[in-house]
This record gives sequence, structure tokens and C-alpha cells, in this order.
Amino acid sequence: MKQVTLDIPITADAAIVWHGDRLYLLDQRLLPAREVFVECSDAPSTAEAIRAMVVRGAPAIGISAAYGVALAARERFASAGDDWRSSIESDLRVLAESRPTAVNLFWALAHMRRVIEGLPPGDPFERLLTEAQAIHARDREDNRRMGDFGAALIEGPTAVITHCNTGGLATGGWGTALGVIRSAHAQGRVERVYADETRPWLQGARLTAWELVRDHIPVQLMADGAAAARMARGGIGWVIVGSDRIAANGDVANKIGTYGLAVAARHHGVRFMVAAPTSTIDLDTADGSAIPIEERPADEVLQCAGQRTTAAGVGAWNPVFDVTPAALIDAIVTERGVIERPDAARIAAHMGGR
Ligand code: MRU
Repeated sequence: MKQVTLDIPITADAAIVWHGDRLYLLDQRLLPAREVFVECSDAPSTAEAIRAMVVRGAPAIGISAAYGVALAARERFASAGDDWRSSIESDLRVLAESRPTAVNLFWALAHMRRVIEGLPPGDPFERLLTEAQAIHARDREDNRRMGDFGAALIEGPTAVITHCNTGGLATGGWGTALGVIRSAHAQGRVERVYADETRPWLQGARLTAWELVRDHIPVQLMADGAAAARMARGGIGWVIVGSDRIAANGDVANKIGTYGLAVAARHHGVRFMVAAPTSTIDLDTADGSAIPIEERPADEVLQCAGQRTTAAGVGAWNPVFDVTPAALIDAIVTERGVIERPDAARIAAHMGGR
């Protein structure tokens, strides 16, 4: 992967950048120590950046893949002319295979495919780039709306717990769960954030804490295992998390550890909110048991910052998402509003029935 520095301000809301004639992704594997971009010039390089977690977070993966389709179309039209439509199929496949759980990836690819089907003959690039940019901009706007809906649920002032990174880095900007927290903090409803460090990738420690400190929102980092003890001490109003895929019955896949947080929250009478755009709701998946859960290499658990921390011969199980049953969720917040105590009927009604 080609790493470059760009002469632009580094902010969480500028993690996905179209610059000149290429896509640049802020390398989230190196934050907060280094602010470097990875250059993507075609579908394989975009897919590799998604697979390697240069860019991560469900909406950000979808947006990046949409740009990847535009890059692929430019390349295919240059080599195959009007036959580009058949040769782009392998690019769509490569992008679809980059990560399995975040349904926003497949949503974005399906959206771009529909646009492709409606294109007239000729060079498709400008039209597909405009569409990728529209998906990117719409995600930012949706997050602001979600922020307002979610903040209104928080009576506050209170402290909240969040997990993984769901901020500008994980989206087109502002964030899903972190967007709700940002909006609620601006309204005086959230005073302090307890951020799980989120083993093994440390998205909470490296990314969420970085975003919150930059926004001057008080943040206390804690080991994932400390969350239940923190709830037991009192003063936590809500646990607020994002999602990679929400099944038709309201079961929620999110970063490993979310399910345990939901169980602990119910035990302690702490409310549990999931913030996600409707592009994360997958009506074709009946319930959480049908959501494909990505498993990543054992070394991610056996090592810390590239150093092996375990004895030779130790194995590891590394599922990177888990499923929280709908019954443990008090509210799902989307850009359209709030689904309280989600179930299949309420999800269907929210999505306009089907
Ligand atoms: O493995 P990651 O870092 O891509 O996982 C990200 C998460 O689990 C987020 O919580 C989820 O994508 C919602 S973010 C907007």
C-alpha cells in the first residue's frame, strides 16, 4: 500500500478524501502516533485498504467502496471502452470480499450497481464519482440528524459509556454513537465519556479518545473489563454504541464486547442505545444468528503493538463482532428517528414496511 502525507488539516471528519484524481484514506492503523494517508487508485487497492483496516467502521467502509467503484469504472472504461460494464463485475466482487459483517459495504455496492445500470453509453467516471461523493455527504448529514434524535433521549447531565470507534473516522463525519455523544455534549446532556479501549485493535484507546480530546469532551479510558464495575458505581445514564448490521428483528451486530456491555447495562438498570443509519439495517437478514461474523487472525489477540505477549503454542479465538439481542436494546436511533424497544414490527414500520 502506498503511504503519503497530504497537505490538508488532519481531522476526524476528513478521513476519506478525494484529492486530485485519487482516493486517500487516513491510515487508522497508525493513529494517533502518525497522520499518514494511503493512496487508492483502483478497486483492488481500495479493497486492500478496507481489509487491512486502514479505513474501518461500517459507514466509512461503504463510502470508501463507493469511491472504489468509481475508480474501477475509470480504469475499465480506459481499457475496454463501452464493454466496461462486464469487466467491472470482478472489481465489485473484490470490493464485496474485503470484509463480511458491515452491511453498509453491500448497501453501497448495490447502490452503485443500480446507478451503473441506469447510465447511458460513454465514460461513466464523472457520474459515479458524483454518486460516491453524494453518499459521503449524505452520511455526514444523516449523522447530524441521528445526533439530534439520540441526544433528545438523554435526560442528563450524565456520563455515558461507549465502545469501539463510531466517530468521524468511522463514518463520513460527526459519527453515529459518537455523533449522538457530540450532539448531547453540546446540549449539556453528556458531561463525561467512558471509552472502552476495545481490544484487540484498540479503536477506543487510539481513535475514540483521540477524537474526544480534540473536541474537548472529557474522556476516561477504561479496559473493556472495567465497564460493568463502572456501571455498578452509578452515574452512567446510557451505553451508546454503533452497529455493523441490524437484523430485521432488531438484533444488532457490533464490535466484540458490545453484547457483554448490553447484559451488564440491563443488570444495572443503565439504558442501551444503538445509533446507526438505515443503511445498516438489513431486512434480508431475519435475526442475529444469520449475520456473518468476521474472524480475524489469532495474532491480533496474541500480540500487542506488534509484540507477542503470549507463550508459544497459545491459540486464540478472534471474532471481531458479536450480536446483541434486540430484547437488551432500549432504542435504535437512525437518521429517520427513534425505534424504542426494537422488534420486527417496529423495524419494518420504521423502514416503511416490506
Ligand atoms: O472492526 P471495525 O473497527 O470496523 O468495527 C467498527 C465497529 O464495530 C463500529 O462500532 C461500527 O462500525 C459502527 S460505527 C459507525
